[in-house]
This record gives sequence, structure tokens and C-alpha cells, in this order.
Amino acid sequence: MSEPPQSADLIIFGGTGDLSMRKLLPALYHCDRDGRLSPTTRVIAMSRGGLDDADFRGKADAEVRGSVPVDDPDLWRRFLGRLHHVSVDIGGEDTTGWARITGLLAGREHHNRVFYLASPPMTFGPFCRELHRAGLVTPAARVVLEKPLGRDLASAQRINDEVGAIFDERQIYRIDHYLGKETVQNLLVLRFANTFLEPIWNSLWIDHVQITAAETVGTPGRRGYYDHAGALRDMVQNHLLQLLCLVAMEPPARNHRESIRDEKVKVLRALRPIVGGEVDRFAVRGQYTAGESGGVRVPGYLDEPGSTAPTGASHRVETFAALRAEVRNWRWAGVPFYLRTGKRMPYRCSEIVVQFKDVPHSIFPGSAPNRLVLRLQPSEGIRLHLMAKEPGAGEVALKPVPLSLSFAETFTARVPEAYERLLMDVLTGTPTLFMRRDEVEAAWRWIDPIISEWESGGMTPEPYPAGSSGPAGAHELVARSGRAWHGENLA
Ligand code: BG6
Repeated sequence: MSEPPQSADLIIFGGTGDLSMRKLLPALYHCDRDGRLSPTTRVIAMSRGGLDDADFRGKADAEVRGSVPVDDPDLWRRFLGRLHHVSVDIGGEDTTGWARITGLLAGREHHNRVFYLASPPMTFGPFCRELHRAGLVTPAARVVLEKPLGRDLASAQRINDEVGAIFDERQIYRIDHYLGKETVQNLLVLRFANTFLEPIWNSLWIDHVQITAAETVGTPGRRGYYDHAGALRDMVQNHLLQLLCLVAMEPPARNHRESIRDEKVKVLRALRPIVGGEVDRFAVRGQYTAGESGGVRVPGYLDEPGSTAPTGASHRVETFAALRAEVRNWRWAGVPFYLRTGKRMPYRCSEIVVQFKDVPHSIFPGSAPNRLVLRLQPSEGIRLHLMAKEPGAGEVALKPVPLSLSFAETFTARVPEAYERLLMDVLTGTPTLFMRRDEVEAAWRWIDPIISEWESGGMTPEPYPAGSSGPAGAHELVARSGRAWHGENLA
């Protein structure tokens, strides 16, 4: 029998924003529906919004209800009853919000207390200081930091210092929602709970690895954020590098938070720096122009509304990035890791492709190397592409065929959203799937020289039409070594 869930107060700063309404509240509702929230657990949104509890519940009813399965109206009502809203004036004169939140939390010091900062990173420090001033940081309290953690190494260090002045590292949960995805966790199980892969998981047998996160969406509604981020900061510094770490890391001694995070950080530190003139050879950036996406004509990035960048600066924002990374250690020497991500691609597809080397000597014409594909989305699953003989007499004809494990077909249980898993981990105090300070900083240390080269050079990203598979440079990046991108319709 598993332990009954512990009572908690989850305080979401930025609680009426997009992330909260689209991801956090639906995830919490699913947890509630599955009986994973204690009856006395509360969700307290904090924002500048001027709402009261009833307004916030009304907002959740209008915006969240349609995106979750509400098969029992009582359960939905119970979930709404958990929601509260406190208006705060960060750094301002008006302290009534702080008095209200203090009142709400009084007497509940022994309940789990989690502060979730779903707001821009420059608010993390001030918010933590206000929490401290209000006496709300109990020894067992935890704080969750949403990405992006800064916009370069220096700002990330500053934020880590500011938050670290109030919370111990063990209380800080830096979230990367990709680590909560089922296939990502399955990658660890596949590698470390089976014997057959590990002996061949190295440069002797693997030719290269591709990690793709392609999205059909553009940046409508997020242009202001994106103008200051770009694909490298938004997707590569965190999600794609985390995936790379899980593919490349050494077997940890234990399934324990520090063992796993120790191995990941070693991978980040072993990444070959891409600096100066090398950036053009190893990194490609693109920006989408008008085109057709999902059968609909869509505008180019520069015509999306909501720009906050100074005039002309948006021309330099990349909505697509592709890189060739190398992990300089015994296991991976000479194996390229190709990373790519883009908005307004023809299909939504996130996957890791491990391309094995070809047979050393082929006795059949038409053989192709084996490939292991870990699909994160859509249709999570794992496929091993093997060569097989096509049935028939006469000449032996080969055909690559997949050995498939579809999670949906193999397991009847619903595949939970990444945020459900991660929120439950925070509530139960399990930090394994969260990033440690040294990991985040090591990732920025690798990304920074690429960004500074892009930002200081005179070149702008290569244009690619919305709905296409990215700029030509991305294809040249892999073609230069006689390789090609895999992936349905993204090759
Ligand atoms: C977020 C990025 O972290 O991840 C977004 O800020 C991106 O730009 C999103 O769209 C992708 O997440 P998922 O789970 O839909 O692949």
C-alpha cells in the first residue's frame, strides 16, 4: 500500500499566467482525480491580477475545464475549492497581499509548502526576498524555478545566488519539463535495466545521435518573450542538452538524485566548446518566414504581433537552431550528437535517434545500419529498426523493419503529462528529475560562446518558410559528414 498523500500548500507565483492555466492546473487536476492530493492540499495563485478566490475559480472553470476530462462534476467542484488567489505588489508599497498570504499559511507550517515561480527569471530573487521578509520560508519549504534560468551564465549565476541566499540547494527545484516525459524516463530504464544495450552504447558501435524537437506552432502570443530568448536559449540550453545528457551519461551507481545528476553534469562538462569561427561550422540558425502550416497560411516570425525588441533586433532572433555537439570522453570520442529544434516545422515530433554503425562487411546488397528511435511525442514509444529479409523466393531482398514498443498499445494506463510527474515529485520532495545548480551553469557555459558569436556577428538567421523542414544550412551541417537527418517528413 502506498502512503496517503501529504497535505501541501502549493503557492504559484504567476499563477494566472499561461503556464499555470495550460499546464500546472490541468496537471494538478489529474493528480487530484487520481487521488494523489491530500484532501487538505491547496493551490494558491499569486499575481498582480487583482482577483479574489471566486474570480480565480471562475477563470479556472472557464479556461481549464475544457482541457481536462471532467467526468464527475463533484470532483471538479472539489478541485476548484482548492484554488485561492492572492494579489501581490512585488517590491511595491501595498503590503496587503503579503499579509493575506501570511494569514493563509499561518498554522500550516507542518504541511508541505512549495513556492512555484512561474514568472520571468528576474523576479525570482525579489520574490524569494519578499517570502523571507514575510517569514514564510520554513526549513522544509521548497521552491520551484521555471526555465529559462537567466539568459546567459552570468545572469543564471546571479539568480542562483539570489535564490540560494534564501533557500538551501536541497530546497531548490529547477524544472525542465522534458525530464518528466515518459519516454525520457524510459530511456534510463531502457539503458540501465537491460543488458543488451550497454555493451554497444559507445563509439565502437554508434555512428551518431540525433535529437530533434520540432514544433508546428510558431510564436503567437509569445513574441515578446521569444524576441529576448530565441531557440537556443528556449529549447537547446535546457531540454535538448538534458536529453543529450541522458543518452550520453555513464551508468549511475544508484537511482538516486545525486548519482544521476553527478553523471549528467560530467557530460555537460565534457562537451567540446564551440567558439569563435567554429560557430559557423557547428551551429546553424534559422528564422521562419510566411508559409503554410497545417494547411493554413501563417505569417513569418517578423509579422507575428507583440514584439518587444528594439527596432531591427528581431531579425536576429532564431526560431530554429541545429548544432553538432561532441562529448569528449572515452565512450563518445568521435560520435557527433546532432541537435535541432524549430518552430513552424511541418510536423510536431520530438525524438532521439541513435544511429548504429553499418555492418563491417555486408554480404547482402541493400543493407542499412540499425537505428534506435525513442519517440517523446507524439505517440510515445521506442522503435528498433532492424534489417529483415522480404518474404519471397529468388534474390534475397532486404528491408528495414521496426521492432516497436508503443506505450499506448502496451500499457493501458494513461500516459501522464510531464508536469503531473514533476509536481508530484516536488510535493513528495524527490529532486532527481530537477536540475542542480552546477548542471544549469555548465549548460550555459557551453551555450554562451555560441550566443555571443551569433549576437556579435553581422549575419542574421537563415530564412526558412513556415511548414518546411528548416534552413538549408541544417541539412548541410549533417551532409558534410555524409549523414542525413532522420524523422518522418523532417529529413
Ligand atoms: C517550452 C518552450 O519550454 O517547451 C516552448 O518554452 C516550447 O517554446 C515547449 O513550445 C515545448 O514543450 P513540449 O512539451 O510541447 O515539447
